[in-house]
Amino acid sequence: MSERVLKIVMQVVRLILGCTFILSGFVKAVDPRGFSYKVEEYLQAANMDFPDWMNLPLVAAIVICCAEFVLGIYLLLGLRRKFTAVATLIVCVVFTIISVLLVIFHPVHDCGCFGEFISLTDAQTLIKNIVLLGLAILLVRNPQVAKPLVPEGWQWIVSLYTCVFIFVFCLRSVYYLPLIDFRQYKVGADLREMVFPTHDDIKPEEISDFMVLDTLSEDQTAQILFKKEPTILIIAPLLNEASTGVTEKLATINDWCRDNGYDIFCLTASPLKDIRKWCYYNDAEYPFLIADHTLLKTMVRSNPGVMLLRDGVIRNKWSANNLPEVEDASVDEKELEATAGNNGKILLKILLWYLLPMLLIIMLSNLIKKRKPKLPKLLKVSNDADDTNDSYDSNNSKNSITTKNTKTMRQKIVAGNWKMNMTLQEGVALAKELNEILSADKPNCGVVICTPFIHLASIAPMLDTSVLKLGAENCADKEKGAYTGEVSAAMVKSTGAEYVILGHSERRAYYGETPEILKEKVNLALANGLKVIFCIGEVLEEREAGKQNEVVAAQLKGSLYDLTAEQFANVVLAYEPVWAIGTGKTATADQAEEMHAFIRAEIAKQFGQEVAENTTIQYGGSCKPSNAKELFAKPDVDGGLIGGASLKAADFKGIIDAWKD
Ligand code: 13P
Repeated sequence: MSERVLKIVMQVVRLILGCTFILSGFVKAVDPRGFSYKVEEYLQAANMDFPDWMNLPLVAAIVICCAEFVLGIYLLLGLRRKFTAVATLIVCVVFTIISVLLVIFHPVHDCGCFGEFISLTDAQTLIKNIVLLGLAILLVRNPQVAKPLVPEGWQWIVSLYTCVFIFVFCLRSVYYLPLIDFRQYKVGADLREMVFPTHDDIKPEEISDFMVLDTLSEDQTAQILFKKEPTILIIAPLLNEASTGVTEKLATINDWCRDNGYDIFCLTASPLKDIRKWCYYNDAEYPFLIADHTLLKTMVRSNPGVMLLRDGVIRNKWSANNLPEVEDASVDEKELEATAGNNGKILLKILLWYLLPMLLIIMLSNLIKKRKPKLPKLLKVSNDADDTNDSYDSNNSKNSITTKNTKTMRQKIVAGNWKMNMTLQEGVALAKELNEILSADKPNCGVVICTPFIHLASIAPMLDTSVLKLGAENCADKEKGAYTGEVSAAMVKSTGAEYVILGHSERRAYYGETPEILKEKVNLALANGLKVIFCIGEVLEEREAGKQNEVVAAQLKGSLYDLTAEQFANVVLAYEPVWAIGTGKTATADQAEEMHAFIRAEIAKQFGQEVAENTTIQYGGSCKPSNAKELFAKPDVDGGLIGGASLKAADFKGIIDAWKD
């Protein structure tokens, strides 16, 4: 599959998974209490007991819907891509296992994947979950393909805002009633028509199982639904679980009903002794009717809740936390009836509360990321940065602004590239010598030696990594398999090496390594926990044609710009003008600085100013003890990648010491 096609496929995969998770999280968050009943069914089916006070089903319901929603947003925006891909796969595996159990054992009726919004059969649920699992596997295999819509430094705001939004929304739905009623007993539903249909074309799912009995088991359904007077129904599925904090308010409602010609009943599934107890302790004077427990839980998601019926039509509903205010006897009856469409408006408002800030964050973060640094003040990256140290070198750093402080903040690294030199014995001896020298006289910078593959495993255990680290000179562009002679990133890592040089001009020129191949190598190296020293640089003709900036920018873009800022933090850049490598012809310190400043500005454009300021950019090409100090003194030169001079301990040490005063 070509890279372009893969990109499109992965975007679609993300879109499908993201939207599915957002939808399933959101519709459950609309009615977490309803979903908690489903969780309770699952827990009971699994014979899991839990103490009543814990309200485990409700807590689990809230956690599940929040997690699904957040995961959906992460998928859609491409945030923390690896973590998100793995989390998605885990969730999909769990869901698939559950749906297989559903198909085999039918422990619960309706899986509850989309709350009460969409009802799926067990087989449909299984098919849906297998498809999602397939997509999740694709995602785990290609987690980095799509670019994040929000730059690294801003992702925490998106995460925090998403978590807070969905959690508060859940709590709101629990405290009041669901904003959208997906069930039969929504405001406006004609119960009379649903129980005693007058037309034949009523669909089976519209037929209601609403039935109420009096305490003598006489059916009172018709009497309730055909009453002339408006009727208030207090709905308390189980009285011993009902909130007793509202009993005074219920008494007030009872008085108001009596004074205004309303009927009032309390519908419950509790046994008579509980009804008596309730009346005795709460001075309840309203009459009681008996109905099915599940029916009552479905009618109002509150215990107790209140429902207003007129002409058999549900006119309004209230939760225990939001009962109708009828203390004022002159309350207008019309005020009690819900305004049609009100809920839709509230829902829109709530969605805008999420969508508008999110859009703003996405736009703002991308705008800031793309903005070219122009003013020295932009460079305030450290609290202790001293403004007086800011300098703007307009001659050498047209595109870059640097401060002495920011230079000291990023790591300075001198790395040796042994190339195809040294037998195993010679290499081991040189590494040993260097290790001893640097252990005795600690360097003022990071030091790395990048050796041929055959040296790695022998040298790694000898090094004191606090003074000397190890790297390879290359790794394969394939993960593993039948690639005779190649050495994978994982194999390099397994030797104990921490770094790998990629993109060296010699490999580009002699082994045909293209930006695409290098991109693969970089991705694999980073995925295997290696730090990458990525080489860029122009050939003589390109410099003579004044094309050096263009060439270097294209090399960066071609292999590194699909990385996240988080990944890019593990990349060290090495500017190596090809005409200076092994020729004895060093770029002047000013030439090096000009290019390094340009590179840093390019990185700032792609990854943001802060990332650019933290990026180590080494110079490579005939760097020796005699010229290292002058080169390293330049504000954007953060060390060197040394070829020939790294093969002798004394020369290499001389370059390392250029960082000492
Ligand atoms: P020299 O230091 O030998 O010029 O080589 C530079 C280089 O290619 C390092 O990777």
